[in-house]
Amino acid sequence: MNITVIGTGYVGLVSGTCFAEFGYRVTCVDVDIAKIETLQTGGVPIYEPGLDLMIKRNTQEGRLHFSADLVSSIAHSDLIFLAVGTPTDPQTGKANLTYIKQAAVDIAQNVKGHQYVVIKSTVPVGTAKTIEVLMAQTNPHATFEVISNPEFLREGAAIEDFMRPDRVVVGCHTTKAKTIMGKLYRPLTLLNIPVFYTSNPSAELIKYAANAFLATKIAFINEIGDLSEVCGADIQDIAQGIGMDHRIGPKFLQTSPGYGGSCFPKDTLALRETAEDFNSPVTIVDAVIKANDRRKAHMADRIIQACGGDVKGKRIAILGLTFKPNTDDMRDSVSLDVIPTLEKAGAKIHAYDPKGMEEAQKLLPHVSYASSVYECMDGADALVILTEWNIFRGLDWNVVKQKLKASLIIDLRNIYHPQEMADMGFAYHSLGRPGVRPDLQMVATKGVVV
Ligand code: UGA
Repeated sequence: MNITVIGTGYVGLVSGTCFAEFGYRVTCVDVDIAKIETLQTGGVPIYEPGLDLMIKRNTQEGRLHFSADLVSSIAHSDLIFLAVGTPTDPQTGKANLTYIKQAAVDIAQNVKGHQYVVIKSTVPVGTAKTIEVLMAQTNPHATFEVISNPEFLREGAAIEDFMRPDRVVVGCHTTKAKTIMGKLYRPLTLLNIPVFYTSNPSAELIKYAANAFLATKIAFINEIGDLSEVCGADIQDIAQGIGMDHRIGPKFLQTSPGYGGSCFPKDTLALRETAEDFNSPVTIVDAVIKANDRRKAHMADRIIQACGGDVKGKRIAILGLTFKPNTDDMRDSVSLDVIPTLEKAGAKIHAYDPKGMEEAQKLLPHVSYASSVYECMDGADALVILTEWNIFRGLDWNVVKQKLKASLIIDLRNIYHPQEMADMGFAYHSLGRPGVRPDLQMVATKGVVV
């Protein structure tokens, strides 16, 4: 099977490479010539665990190619995937469809006969239809069928999510389209992974509904965390306790400083706008968006309070800048809310992130970037854990104590335990858990499954 993937961002590059891994002949196309040159010369423009080796293997074995030339790349493609960005339009909150429409026009102008075009980008309900009409208008001599095939890839775990998904969703309206998509995903159906066929609008809405539901789980657990904190309960135990109910499930119940990234914030906003357009408001999603915005805005204040109400002239060490671990992606990261607010309040920020510092330097120019975890905390008045990278999970607390000026830890990912930290002599603040006070010793004890 010959495949062209247009767009070499996190979604396009991972999908194209994984299709090549299935044995198909894949060309990944992008208008960004510098990016294509990087890929052609063995570089990988993004960090995604395992992707570099998979790209290398598939290019060496001749199945994966990179090109800036759309016209020659799409010739003889059985399937052309659209995986271009659909960023939030800052004026309207809607998904910006400029890039996807442009790519559709470019394809339509350069194909003959019948062409299947598959939308992988996250697009509002109705977009497949719009793109199909646009292509037919652009080239009345060819015929087009647009298939919706939303992605459910988490950054940092994208290859695993592609190769072992819970399901694949396909929206289409002919048997032939269903057949070719069945052939495409045969390597997964052989592993008993279900491919769910539905209409285009349903597939489009499934993607938004899935992300909005996951965002809702996070916003919900975060609010319950706030309540836990003031009533003496422990959010880690609440999440575990409710997660053992199969109807709820344990995933996406980890309390956090708020969700970020390129997907949940953008997709919840776009869903709200779509719902408004159809005059069918999604009030729950609206509440989730507001709750998450409030939470992210409030996080710097929590740090200031933990520092005694004033951070003027204080040096604060921050571990983790990306929106989640195992990525270099800074989009909508809580660090972009927290750090400028702390700086405004007079703090001097020292930060370390395993993969995000190059991008962070462009967005947070006043931060002093450290070359290692422990260098970051040298002489700091407080240590803040903002992203739960694995290397922050096993800190050597004797070294930390020597490095810090004050033994103050603010752990916004709850990767340490309050009692253990108190036993080591740290003033420790986390989310949704009672402080370690004698009167709360009982509830501060970790929940146990027997
Ligand atoms: C998300 C979805 O999980 C993917 O299924 C989807 O395909 C993708 O968006 C997309 O639309 O492209 P991603 O944004 O890469 O993936 O990462 P997640 O692991 O979902 O995390 C998103 C945010 O939620 C992060 O800021 C993370 O810290 C936060 N989060 C996640 C929590 O605060 N608590 C949790 O329990 C889980």
